[in-house]
Amino acid sequence: MSTSTAQAFSEFNNTNLEPLFSAEQIQQRITELGSQIARDYEGKNPLLIGVLKGACIFISDLLRAIDLKLGIEFMAISSYGASTRTSGEVRIVKDLDVPIEGRDILVVEDIVDTGLTLSYLLANLKSRGATSVKLVALLDKHSRREREVEINYLGFQIPDAFVVGYGLDFAERYRNLPYIAVLKDPQI
Ligand code: IMP
Ligand code: MG
Repeated sequence: MSTSTAQAFSEFNNTNLEPLFSAEQIQQRITELGSQIARDYEGKNPLLIGVLKGACIFISDLLRAIDLKLGIEFMAISSYGASTRTSGEVRIVKDLDVPIEGRDILVVEDIVDTGLTLSYLLANLKSRGATSVKLVALLDKHSRREREVEINYLGFQIPDAFVVGYGLDFAERYRNLPYIAVLKDPQI
């Protein structure tokens, strides 16, 4: 008989995490978004552009919920230092490998917070001659908005809290959580 009372470590059931949306709730919402997008883009061949890394899990599930002929590409963006943050200047770290002239673009993002990243990215893509550029965001932290950004397809509205999981990270941790949680104390 073992005398050990030590419990196995669990990253997913960490006491610093307060569950916000379960894996089932997320899938349910994605199914709805996918059907809506398939209806709206019927007869078209949209190009989904995922913003790395946060949107990688969301786009993987969303893609399979859209019953259409479509394409997928990725971009990576990084914002400049805190001093230039308010100017909304962002840097494209990984650009598209394909032209988007004449394409119907759906930008897929994990969360819209201040809106600085997306307002830059959407304007940049529009300037490349796309037929249409629309935004799909899993989460919207609307109370923090500094720059107006139109979200055409939204998963969930959330309060002003720092959330992790389902692709979203805190210092690169927690992207692998199957659900979305509020990080109670970022110091831990
Ligand atoms: P913004 O809208 O330009 O402020 O930046 C949005 C980006 O900040 C998102 O793509 C995320 O990478 C990151 N971000 C903002 N809020 C959160 C959060 O609560 N958890 C994790 N990442 C966040
Ligand atoms: Mg992001």
